[in-house]
Amino acid sequence: MKIFLIGGTGKTGREIVKQGLERGHIITALVRNPNKLKVNHPNLKTVKGNVLIPASFDMAVKGQDAVLSSLGHKRFIVPTRILSKGTKNIIDVMNKYGVKRLICITSLGVNDSRFKLGLYYTLFTIPVILLFYFLDKSKQEKLIMKSDLDWTIIRPGQLTNGKKRSNYKHGSNVGSYVLTKMISRASVAHFMLDQLEDQSYIRKSPGITN
Ligand SMILES: NC(=O)c1ccc[n+]([C@@H]2O[C@H](COP(=O)([O-])OP(=O)(O)OC[C@H]3O[C@@H](n4cnc5c(N)ncnc54)[C@H](OP(=O)(O)O)[C@@H]3O)[C@@H](O)[C@H]2O)c1
Repeated sequence: MKIFLIGGTGKTGREIVKQGLERGHIITALVRNPNKLKVNHPNLKTVKGNVLIPASFDMAVKGQDAVLSSLGHKRFIVPTRILSKGTKNIIDVMNKYGVKRLICITSLGVNDSRFKLGLYYTLFTIPVILLFYFLDKSKQEKLIMKSDLDWTIIRPGQLTNGKKRSNYKHGSNVGSYVLTKMISRASVAHFMLDQLEDQSYIRKSPGITN
C-alpha cells in the first residue's frame, strides 16, 4: 500500500517506517529534518515540511492509500494546538484528494478512555504535567471523529522502547483505572500497520497495552 506518514522521525514513527517497509509498503514520510530519518530504502520517500503548514505536504497526500500519524511533541507545559491544528490540516488535505483511511495515535486517558492510564497518570501526570497536551489530544480526537474519513484512533498505554510483541491486548476495554499499563512502540507500530488490512476498528478508538 501507499502510505503517507506523519511523525516518521519520532520513536514510534521509526518503528512504523521499519516494519512498514518490511511489509512491502511504499512510504512517504513528512519530516521536518530529513537527516533524522537515517533510512535509505527504495520504497521510502521523504517530504520536507511541517504538519502546521498544509502547503508543505499537500501534493504528497494525493494518490496515497492511507495516512498514518504518530505526531507528538514535548511542549507539554504551555498551551499548544500542534496536535489538533496539525490533524485538522491532515484531514482537510485528505478530503481534498479523496484519501479516506486515517490511522492516528493519541493516548489512553483521552475522552471516553479518561482515567484508563491508571491512578498515577489520572491524579498527577495528566493534571500537573500533561494537562494542555491532553486537552489538545482531546480536540485532535474530536476532529477526527467528526470527519467523514475511515478513521481509527489508536490509544496506547505508557510507551516503552521494548521489543515488538504479538500478544498485546487491544480494544475498548483495555487499560486500567489503577495501574499504568505499558506497551512498546514497536507493538503499537505493528498494530497500526495491521489496521491497514483490517476493517474491524474503522471509526473506533481501541486502546492497546501489554
Ligand atoms: N510517551 C508515552 O508514554 C505515550 C503514551 C501514549 C501515547 N503517546 C503518544 O504517542 C505518540 C507517539 O509518541 P512518540 O514517543 O513516538 O513521539 P515522538 O518520538 O516525540 O515523535 C513525534 C513525531 O512528531 C513529529 N512532529 C512534531 N511536530 C511536528 C510538526 N509540526 N510537523 C511535522 N512533524 C512533527 C516529530 O518530528 P521531529 O523529529 O522533527 O521532532 C516526530 O517525528 C505521541 O502522540 C504521544 O503523545 C505517548
